Amino acid sequence: MPKTEQRVEQKQRENWGSRIGFILAAAGSAIGLGNIWRFPYLTGENGGGAFIIIYLACVFIVGLSIMIAEFTIGRRTSLAAVGAYKSYSRRWTFAGALGALSGFFIMGFYPVVGGWALAYVFKSLTGLLSSPETIGDAFSAFITGTYEPLIWMVIYLALNVFIVARGVKGGIETAGKVLMPTLFVLLVFIIFRSVSLEGAVEGLKFLFMPKWEDVSGQTFLAALGQAFFSLSLGMGCMITYGSYLDKKENLQRNAAIVTTMDTCAALLAAIAIFPALFAFGMEPAQGPGLVFVVVPQIFAKMGALGVLLSAIFFVALTVAALTSSVSLLEVVTAYLIDEKKMDRKPAVYASSAVMIILCILSSLSLGVLSGVKLFGVGFFDFFDILTDKIFLAIGGMLLAIFVGWFVKKEDLKDELTNGGTVEFKLFEVWYNLIKYVIPVAIAIIAVSGIMAIEQTSLMLFGLAVIVVLAIFSKKL
Ligand code: PFF
Repeated sequence: MPKTEQRVEQKQRENWGSRIGFILAAAGSAIGLGNIWRFPYLTGENGGGAFIIIYLACVFIVGLSIMIAEFTIGRRTSLAAVGAYKSYSRRWTFAGALGALSGFFIMGFYPVVGGWALAYVFKSLTGLLSSPETIGDAFSAFITGTYEPLIWMVIYLALNVFIVARGVKGGIETAGKVLMPTLFVLLVFIIFRSVSLEGAVEGLKFLFMPKWEDVSGQTFLAALGQAFFSLSLGMGCMITYGSYLDKKENLQRNAAIVTTMDTCAALLAAIAIFPALFAFGMEPAQGPGLVFVVVPQIFAKMGALGVLLSAIFFVALTVAALTSSVSLLEVVTAYLIDEKKMDRKPAVYASSAVMIILCILSSLSLGVLSGVKLFGVGFFDFFDILTDKIFLAIGGMLLAIFVGWFVKKEDLKDELTNGGTVEFKLFEVWYNLIKYVIPVAIAIIAVSGIMAIEQTSLMLFGLAVIVVLAIFSKKL
C-alpha cells in the first residue's frame, strides 16, 4: 500500500483529541490484568521484595527507554507497528509481525482471565462472600470447570470484538475515564483495610525486605517479561499509539507519566493483597488465584457494603482488562488492515474467531484438558510463557537494536526534542542505553532465564518461530 493511503487509513482509525486522552489511552492499555492479577502473584511466587526491586529496575531502565523508543518511531513515521518498521526497511517487517503474533497469542489467554473478572462481579453479588472459608475452593472449582468459565470468556471476548469493530473511540474511553480512577480509589481503600488487619506486618515485610537468596536467572526473566507485559511493550502497541500523537507533545514526559502510573497501580495492588494474605495465614506463592481469593476475603468481613465494594472492584478490574485487551486486538486488527488489506470488520471477526479457539484450549487446560501438554506445559501456560518470557522480551530487544543501529541519531534527536523546541537532557544516556546496554542486558537475561527454566524446549520453539518469521520477512 502506498504511504499516503496508509496515512489515510491511520486517520480513519483514531486520533487523540487531547493530551489527557492519549495518556489515558496509553495508561489504559498498560494498566490491566498485568498489574492487578499478574504482578501480585508473580511477586508471591518469586519471593517478594527482591523481585520487586529487580522489577523496578527493569521498568525504569529498560521499560521506560523502550517506551520512549516506541513513541518516537510511531510518531516519526505516523504508522502502526509493521508499517513503521517497513518504512525503514523491508527486512525489519518481521519485527512488526512478531508483535502482531504476540498480541494474538496474549489474546489466547487474556480473555480467559478477563472472563473470570467479569464472573466475579456477579459472584460477588450472589453469595460468594457469605462463606469466606470456601472462597478459595470456589475459585478452583470455577476455573477448572468446563462450561462456566467458557461462557464468561466468550462474553468478555465479545465485548472486545464489539468495541474494536466499531473503532476504539467512544464508550470504552469514557468508561476508562471513570473506572480507572475508581480502581485506584478502591485499591487505596483495600490497602487501608488490609494493613489494619492483625498480622499484616508480615505481608509488608515480605514485600519490602528482599530475600536475595531466592533470586535466580529465572527471577530476572520473570521480572523483565512482566515489565514488558505490564507496560504493553515489545509488540508495537505503543508504536501504534505514538503514531497518533501530536507533534507538539513531549514524548519522554508522556512515557514517564505512563510508566509511573502503571508501576503505581502494580505496587498498590501488591500492597493491598499481601498484608491481608499474611493476616489470613495464606500461602504467598498460590499463583493465578491470588487476587480472586484474597480480595473477596477482605470484603467478606464487611457485610453488605463489602458485597457492593467487591462487585465494584471486579467491574473496575474488568474495565481495566478491557482497555488493555482492546489494544491487543487492535494491534492484530491493524496488521490485517494495513498489511493484508482487509476491512476492519472482517479483520476483527477473523482474528477473534481464532482467538476464541485458543482461549477455549487455555481455559480447558486448567480443567478437563490438564493432561494435554505442549512443550511440557498446558495451553494456558504455553501462551503465557511464549509471549511474556520470549516474544515480548525479544520484540523489545529487536526494537532497541533497530532504533539504536538503523535509525539515524539526528532523526531520533529531532523527534525527541520536537525539532529542537523542547529539551531532552538525558538524550545521550537514553541513546546509549538503547544502542548498547538494553540489547546486551536482554540477551543476558534471556540466556540465563532459559538455562534456569524447566521449559527449555518451549524457549527453543519460541526462538525458532522468530527465526522463521525473519527468514520469511518479505512475505509478511
Ligand atoms: N499491559 C496489559 C496489562 O498489564 O494487563 C497487557 C498488554 C496489553 C500487553 C497490550 C501488551 C499489549 F500490547
